[in-house]
Amino acid sequence: MNNKTEQKASVGNADAKVISFCNQKGGTGKTTSCLAVAGFLAEQHNVLVVDMDPQAHASYGLGVTLTAEEPSIYDAILTECGDYEGVDIEQVVYETPYPSIHLIPSELDLSLAELVLYEAEDKLHVLQGLLEKLEIHYDYILIDLPPHLGMLMMNGIIVADHVIIPVEPSWYGMESLKNFNSYRQELERDTGIRLENLSLILTRYRKPGLLALFTENQVKDILAYLKKTYPEKLFIVPECKAVLMAQKERKLLANSYSKSEAAIAYSQLAEYLQ
Ligand SMILES: Nc1ncnc2c1ncn2[C@@H]1O[C@H](COP(=O)(O)OP(=O)(O)OP(=O)(O)O)[C@@H](O)[C@H]1O
Ligand SMILES: [Mg+2]
Repeated sequence: MNNKTEQKASVGNADAKVISFCNQKGGTGKTTSCLAVAGFLAEQHNVLVVDMDPQAHASYGLGVTLTAEEPSIYDAILTECGDYEGVDIEQVVYETPYPSIHLIPSELDLSLAELVLYEAEDKLHVLQGLLEKLEIHYDYILIDLPPHLGMLMMNGIIVADHVIIPVEPSWYGMESLKNFNSYRQELERDTGIRLENLSLILTRYRKPGLLALFTENQVKDILAYLKKTYPEKLFIVPECKAVLMAQKERKLLANSYSKSEAAIAYSQLAEYLQ
């Protein structure tokens, strides 16, 4: 744990359940979903959020902005890969304004870790090696992944017990899901792993209507496509102003806008994950 912080998480849980939020398409609601679920799970559990995106939006959303000297997940990855001396994973765990949520933050330089990971000996399991040292302290570890089919994403998928794919209701969103499907098959073939626990979230869902993006039939087509291609559990989160308000205020939906439509949908997802 970072020496600025105090260890607060309970010790003694067998293994944390690791949940990764993943989609190679940008802006589909990965970070929004990760933080929303973290907020609801934290009502009863100890949660660690791992920001694996160089954009560091999850870190920002949890109220953590690192100074140039403070270490991030990037330093811990370099250390684990033998490229850099001396920053253990425990040193990059930070407290957040929420007592039951800890954070491993990111920074822009994390994009450089793609190459380091690619050249590492056990390139697919670097994050797994790091998180194994922390799992005992948490009930849930939530990983926010970047919109990029690279080593960071692959590490985040491999370590996950459950992968959640937020999808936006657009034709490009559906196309990107088809691409993810091919990627998933390739990954399963190359690594021998099976992505058995997989859920979809249709984010920013607007009810059909005059001002909506899609007609009722188009929405039906999208839902039918999702259910056919991904028969796994499908959640729907409505488009909701509260999401934008919470992000502007760097608050969590569970704490500040818990009665909003999006919060209710995310609380049901958190319930399902328990
Ligand atoms: N339910 C919602 N209602 C309204 N706006 C939403 C909702 N979900 C997400 N958004 C908005 O959509 C945008 C993209 O969300 P977010 O940053 O979570 O996506 P992302 O997949 O993490 O993006 P990136 O790929 O860049 O990491 C944000 O501006 C967010 O506020
Ligand atoms: Mg994001």
